[in-house]
Amino acid sequence: MHAIFLAMLRALFSRKPPELLVDFHSHLLPGIDDGVRSFEESIEILQRFQRQGYKKVITTPHISEQFRNTPEIIENLCSDLQTRAERAGLTIKVACAAEYKVDPTFLDKLKSEERLLTFGDKYLLFETSFHSKPMFFDEAVFEMQSRGYKPVFAHPERYHYLEDDLSWIKSVRERGVHLQMNLMSMAGVYGKEAERRAKTMLKEGLISFVGSDLHRIKQWQNIETALNQKLGGYTFLNKQLI
Ligand SMILES: [Fe+2]
Repeated sequence: MHAIFLAMLRALFSRKPPELLVDFHSHLLPGIDDGVRSFEESIEILQRFQRQGYKKVITTPHISEQFRNTPEIIENLCSDLQTRAERAGLTIKVACAAEYKVDPTFLDKLKSEERLLTFGDKYLLFETSFHSKPMFFDEAVFEMQSRGYKPVFAHPERYHYLEDDLSWIKSVRERGVHLQMNLMSMAGVYGKEAERRAKTMLKEGLISFVGSDLHRIKQWQNIETALNQKLGGYTFLNKQLI
């Protein structure tokens, strides 16, 4: 009995944080959304990612009715950030995509076949309003998939409209939509309900990817907390994006 107890303790304390290598959800281009305010802040965040063992960061500014960014705006700032990261001596790779909000402008973009920013193998990161599920959610998923995109639903655990019923989100996953949990949900940053939903989704094997969704350097400590204490033992697809 004593030996079993000791083995359990050893297993508990030897659990390593997951080796993620790539983060693909953050807001590190200054001045174009609610993320960082300066390139200095971006560089400081990239340094922390590198120190944590990450090899690549794909940053994803908002594109929505509120933040009317275009691929060109994002790509220009992205190459500026890449140059600055190299000059700062960083070895971590920097790339850019976007986080699209499912609203009428997003549907228009899809239907008119505008160029959309994706990452990896045509993965398309999208989010919805936090309070109500958009009526055209199903239509948006259909339009994405029928154009060959692989939709990745950002931080499902954070949507208040889910409450404690996960049957809808399971049906979304069954339709081939990947779910991306925010690391900070595991550190309780978005409240107890989001933390509870995140843990349930993890246990039920619904989560394909995790992302930082980092907006500011002051949030970094929460990332380390989540990585070191809450996620040992799970595996995610992030590594495939290297
Ligand atoms: Fe985000």
